[in-house]
Amino acid sequence: MSQLEVEDLEVYYETEDGPAQAVDGVSFELEQGENLGIVGESGCGKTTLAKAIIGILPDAGYVNGGSINFKGDDLTELSGPERRRLKWEEISMIAQSAMNSLDPVYTIREQIVEAIETHRPGTGRVESNEIVTEMFELVGLDPDRADDYPHQFSGGMRQRAMIAMALALEPSLMLADEPTTALDVIMQDQILKRIGSIQEEINSSMLVITHDVSVVAETCDRVIVMYAGKIAEEGPVEEIFNQPYHPYTIGLKRAFPNIRMQDQDLLSISGYPPELIDPPQGCRFAERCPMATDKCREEEPEAHHNNGLRSYCHYADEIDSELRPYADDPKTWNQTAAAQEAGGD
Ligand SMILES: Nc1ncnc2c1ncn2[C@@H]1O[C@H](COP(=O)(O)OP(=O)(O)O)[C@@H](O)[C@H]1O
Ligand SMILES: [Mg+2]
Repeated sequence: MSQLEVEDLEVYYETEDGPAQAVDGVSFELEQGENLGIVGESGCGKTTLAKAIIGILPDAGYVNGGSINFKGDDLTELSGPERRRLKWEEISMIAQSAMNSLDPVYTIREQIVEAIETHRPGTGRVESNEIVTEMFELVGLDPDRADDYPHQFSGGMRQRAMIAMALALEPSLMLADEPTTALDVIMQDQILKRIGSIQEEINSSMLVITHDVSVVAETCDRVIVMYAGKIAEEGPVEEIFNQPYHPYTIGLKRAFPNIRMQDQDLLSISGYPPELIDPPQGCRFAERCPMATDKCREEEPEAHHNNGLRSYCHYADEIDSELRPYADDPKTWNQTAAAQEAGGD
């Protein structure tokens, strides 16, 4: 049994115009000690997925179906107190916005010590303080600053303080939502390396949520590409980025700087993800896809398995034999952009 098994998960938000289907039928597994990346453009449901797993959806959000199995318990069925215990001791989240996750009225040290003493009863004050020092050093913060309040820290320092807090309890699963986006590239690299080495020490697994493909390439074993609340493609990092089968992944890859292809022109995918209140039938990527046919606009694609990848595209089996040169050609994507501009929308 995997550590985490998410099956057919649906998470909706109640809105004035009806329910928005932010996560719609998502299934995946995560092994103990494994790092799984979740990538996709802004608004595709990555944060919602993480919040549903750790149980901190806002009031408007609710799990509409499916299950989240963590070490044998369905998290969607646990009561509040059980859920809160798990949240701290087993699962921790490095949230997208550090400011909202730290309490402004307590010093950083007080917050970390409080978490340790509540969730690791029997830990003495001296030991708790040692953990604070150790964690601060780990994330490159001066331990003397632990007695500062969050507002005395810069944005980058707060982000690091939050990472220190998330690691202090040695959780077996970490949900890292854009963990290093607020940091400069050098700090980002350093922190990712440190998180990696701590993880090895405590054999924890991590869900790395990011819009930055290079972060995933650096830290993950496997990756899920999400589009408009659904999985577009999933598989080992190497395969996904070297030879994807889903046009969305191919487009996304073109939109990011690539270490292996320095000279590649960056080309963002034209258009926007669809509305989630009344999503289009068929493939959700169809209206932006240069390869879309009527079938794509009508029928929702099933999973196709090729080369270790799970790809939700009707034409995944034909990409290699026929469509790859076309899909890989930047002109394909340029022409789509031009056609969309001409057609208006
Ligand atoms: N509190 C909320 N109420 C209503 N809709 C929300 C709320 N939070 C997020 N959404 C919507 O859910 C979708 C997914 O958002 P999110 O999970 O934040 O995406 P991502 O993290 O991939 O950028 C978006 O369409 C967003 O507008
Ligand atoms: Mg997000």
